[in-house]
Amino acid sequence: MAEMTRDIGLGTAARTADLHREYGRGTAAVRALRGVSVALASGTFTAVMGPSGSGKTTLLHCLAGMDRPTRGSVWWGGTEVSRLPERRLAELRRSRVGFVFQAFNLMPAMTVAQNVELPGRLAGKRPDRERVREALAQVGLAGRERHRPGQLSGGQQQRVAIARALVSRPEVLFADEPTGALDRATGHEILALLRAGVDRDRQTCVMVTHDPVAAGYADRVLLLADGLVVDELDRPTAAQVGDRLSRLGG
Ligand SMILES: Nc1ncnc2c1ncn2[C@@H]1O[C@H](COP(=O)(O)OP(=O)(O)OP(=O)(O)O)[C@@H](O)[C@H]1O
Ligand SMILES: [Mg+2]
Repeated sequence: MAEMTRDIGLGTAARTADLHREYGRGTAAVRALRGVSVALASGTFTAVMGPSGSGKTTLLHCLAGMDRPTRGSVWWGGTEVSRLPERRLAELRRSRVGFVFQAFNLMPAMTVAQNVELPGRLAGKRPDRERVREALAQVGLAGRERHRPGQLSGGQQQRVAIARALVSRPEVLFADEPTGALDRATGHEILALLRAGVDRDRQTCVMVTHDPVAAGYADRVLLLADGLVVDELDRPTAAQVGDRLSRLGG
């Protein structure tokens, strides 16, 4: 039944079908993804793992509508994202997906609240102060609106980045190594926050990580190697993930 549900796209927040992504042409071509079909069930937390260069970031960018497939398709619910014209895609992306980067990518001269408002402003929307406060409270930063990123710890800065990604109430939250720049204890806080979003708000979340302990927070782990999904683990423990990874040579 679960498989059938996936096939017809019900309860699936995003999926790819035979996704290929090549960079460059001819002899210089790099085949970053070579036929990836994955479905992200709504309200689940997926970790994407694999050796460096295996295509994790490329997969995340294609799923998030930030990069275009060379072949194959990407879907958000019933919408084929990969066929949308650029303007429509940008519009939809702003409302349907949130993205968190390893390096936070905050604007140092702006306040926390201004950073969270920024994507909306760039889209020409009037800032919704109440919603910004709500998003900051959701990540445990109530009352920090007027601080600047430089006055916050690394973990707090990543929380601001998560609030910025969540402020539009996206269907899917994407995170590329969100704990890569943090120490273990701070990383744990961020992972617990992502996990709580899935459990409490039925947020769909996809995270790239190199850390088996981080992957242990996910419901499912997809293992990539050389542009293909080569393995999948449900309800993984960190030990299981570490074992599979070492077999991949990652
Ligand atoms: N813009 C680009 N132009 C050319 N090649 C690229 C580009 N982006 C990625 N690649 C290549 O595509 C392959 C997959 O890259 P990708 O960044 O998706 O890997 P990754 O699994 O995220 O690696 P890492 O763990 O190091 O972040 C690599 O061989 C990479 O060099
Ligand atoms: Mg990467």
